[in-house]
Amino acid sequence: MAEQKTKRSGFGGKAAAILAAAGSAIGLGNIWRFPYITSENGGGAFILIYLGCILFLGLPLLIAEFSVGHNTKKNPIDAFATIKKGWGWLGAMGLISVTLIMGYYFVISGWTLNYTLASATNAIGGNFGTFFTEFTTDTWKPLIFTYIFIIANHIIITGGVQGGIEKASKIMMPILFAILIILAIYSLWLPDGREALANIFTPDFSKVTGKTFLDAMGQAFFTLSIGMGAMLIYGSYFKDGTKIAGTAISVVSLDTLVALMAAVIIFSAGVENESGIQLAFVAMPKVFAAMPFGNLWATLFFLLLGLAALSSTISMHEAVTSYFVEKRGMERKHGARLVTLFALLLSTVASLSLGDWSNFTIAGMNFFALLDNFTAIIMLPLLGILTSIFVGWVWKKEDMKAELTAEGGVDKATYPIVRFLLRYVCPILVSVVLVFGIIDFAKSFSKPAKCEEPEVTLEVMGAKELDINPTEELERVEIKVVETNNN
Ligand code: PFF
Repeated sequence: MAEQKTKRSGFGGKAAAILAAAGSAIGLGNIWRFPYITSENGGGAFILIYLGCILFLGLPLLIAEFSVGHNTKKNPIDAFATIKKGWGWLGAMGLISVTLIMGYYFVISGWTLNYTLASATNAIGGNFGTFFTEFTTDTWKPLIFTYIFIIANHIIITGGVQGGIEKASKIMMPILFAILIILAIYSLWLPDGREALANIFTPDFSKVTGKTFLDAMGQAFFTLSIGMGAMLIYGSYFKDGTKIAGTAISVVSLDTLVALMAAVIIFSAGVENESGIQLAFVAMPKVFAAMPFGNLWATLFFLLLGLAALSSTISMHEAVTSYFVEKRGMERKHGARLVTLFALLLSTVASLSLGDWSNFTIAGMNFFALLDNFTAIIMLPLLGILTSIFVGWVWKKEDMKAELTAEGGVDKATYPIVRFLLRYVCPILVSVVLVFGIIDFAKSFSKPAKCEEPEVTLEVMGAKELDINPTEELERVEIKVVETNNN
């Protein structure tokens, strides 16, 4: 162990530390998840609550996680156990959770690859919903793209901390920001853009419910990669002299900026009424198709999504790989290979659970949804609570203070605030959210599986547009021809 510490590699400097950690934070969570959760929760009011969660819960927890890694320079399990004997399990819980997240996250990442290629070659065609359904429920196609994505990850991870992760982050992140800025500027030029934007950013507090807070906090934790060991392992690679608080503030600011810009791009395209996966993969291609140079915009958008996903998945992979390398004494390439195998296995099941294996459900959820819901509703808040308790209560006060305030980290005046947030605010608020989440999650087990909404496509000869109104009980469907073709 002792020799290993001296050989341990790390990031070359401050910029690398910020780019890599921002890369972990900025992912599908910002560009795909944030916009649709915002629109589901009524826009502006949700954004305000979300910003509160980022500032008062996410930022202190990120500082805490970086500190544990930076202080010990160890993998997540050894890091907790070094600070307090017997606490290694907390790191293990994070690693198990991040492995489960990889299971479905890689599948969506694979989709972005297919959509980038299909947009560039104009292969999506005119029926966006059908393209999406046929692709995602296919047996092999989504698997092949997912595997390519996982292999790309594997190559970066085996390249090492500086030769792989740092290098990839330095190349990917500037491209990601450039694409984002181009798309944001273009979207604000769109005729309905500014109006849609004003609508979504105007707070409507009548839409705020308990669930708004649940969603806002879950999103804040997910987007900052809290509690999963990913930020801890990156913190452990920070060079001595890296300012923990400053780095955390930079990461949080960049992450929030990207989420807001993604929301601007998506809402100014006028698709704020779409929700879930459909928003990015069905509604957006449709909007792009109607624009001049639509293929170019669509290609850029999916490339952006893919790059964001890649910079996040390498941090997940690295967290688990570091365990096999440091704790199990494996060579890096062997440890990475094992993690890659897990990822291949889980993502294969997750991908098939949307198509061939969609009949196997637990509490009405397929494996893909189960991985997503279990990690987002239970594991993320639970790990947030435990990490704040660990840093706020278990870590020896003087040691924790020395680490947090070292090298111009958290300044002396701000330190008591961070400590207060970690000791009281985080554990209490997040526990409330966790309890509601568990109740909600448990309900899906006691409820009979929900029947899928029947989907009917109707075409009427000569009609350009139809207005279809299913009555509430779905006994009767009213169909009105709104506009007919000229003849
Ligand atoms: N923060 C990433 C996103 O917003 O997409 C997701 C993520 C990355 C979660 C790394 C967990 C993790 F360890």
